[in-house]
Amino acid sequence: MQDITRVYLNGDFLAPEAAKVSAFDRGFIFGDGIYEVIPVFGREPFRLPHHLHRLAHSLEAVHITNPLSGSEWGAMIHSLIETCPAEDQSVYLQVTRGPAPRDHAFPGEISPTVFAYSKPLKTPGVQELNQGVRAIVADDIRWDRCDIKAIALLANVILRQQAVEQGAAETILIHDGEVTEGAASNIFVVLGGTLVTPPKSRQILPGITRDLVVELAGQHGVPYEERSVLREELFAADEVWMSSSMKEILPIVRIDDHVVGNGKPGALFHHCYSLYQDYKAAFRAGEVA
Ligand code: PDD
Repeated sequence: MQDITRVYLNGDFLAPEAAKVSAFDRGFIFGDGIYEVIPVFGREPFRLPHHLHRLAHSLEAVHITNPLSGSEWGAMIHSLIETCPAEDQSVYLQVTRGPAPRDHAFPGEISPTVFAYSKPLKTPGVQELNQGVRAIVADDIRWDRCDIKAIALLANVILRQQAVEQGAAETILIHDGEVTEGAASNIFVVLGGTLVTPPKSRQILPGITRDLVVELAGQHGVPYEERSVLREELFAADEVWMSSSMKEILPIVRIDDHVVGNGKPGALFHHCYSLYQDYKAAFRAGEVA
């Protein structure tokens, strides 16, 4: 927690050690809550409306009333950014259903717990970008509402741990013979020059980074398709990438014992990575929202 100066808890800005929640909070007891992770570049939250939109979707899906308005979320996030010394940060926020006597069904009258902080953001370094990273594949053992950004992440935690134990950066998940996403990222493949990523569904989180990559591909004439990706296609792909707010776009050059393409980040990766960085530069300059 050394790099976190201040946290927000239910209306107050506190030192991290001073933030306390009830042991009966349903977030603690049931994992009953949702979260967001928002990158900050040049002290401005990146794609904030998109993140707040997804937050609203997650809250609605689990029947928690959104505790703050859009402008209240914005003001709170900006206050946290001010307390953090870094130019680039990542804001974590979570809303749980709140404290209540333990019962699976939730009470009508309950006040959500809102917790948030910002800390310095470290995006992948030159070595990872130039050499690419390794991934493993595993069965997608998660539930049928992966579109909800739920704090109950036990399956994702176990799946990511498998990757780490095998010296890999990510676990690519397979459901019914198709790629869904990574344990904490979305997945892209390049097949015959076309960028392909699974369509939005209840099986994947609609990643904000994923959407931006698709948007940039569309704007810059990169051929792309949002369609199912078979397990065989993952292993036949010329390039495989993962995307997330924290990792941005990272090339995957090895999956289990299989070498992807020529074992190096591909040409389309380099192209789309530059488009992404150019977009970020324009955002820092205040040229795009
Ligand atoms: N996770 N899919 C899953 C399962 C994720 O957990 C994430 C991000 C993504 C990518 O979404 P986005 O581009 O909006 O970050 C896809 C965050 C970073 C986390 O849990 O820390």
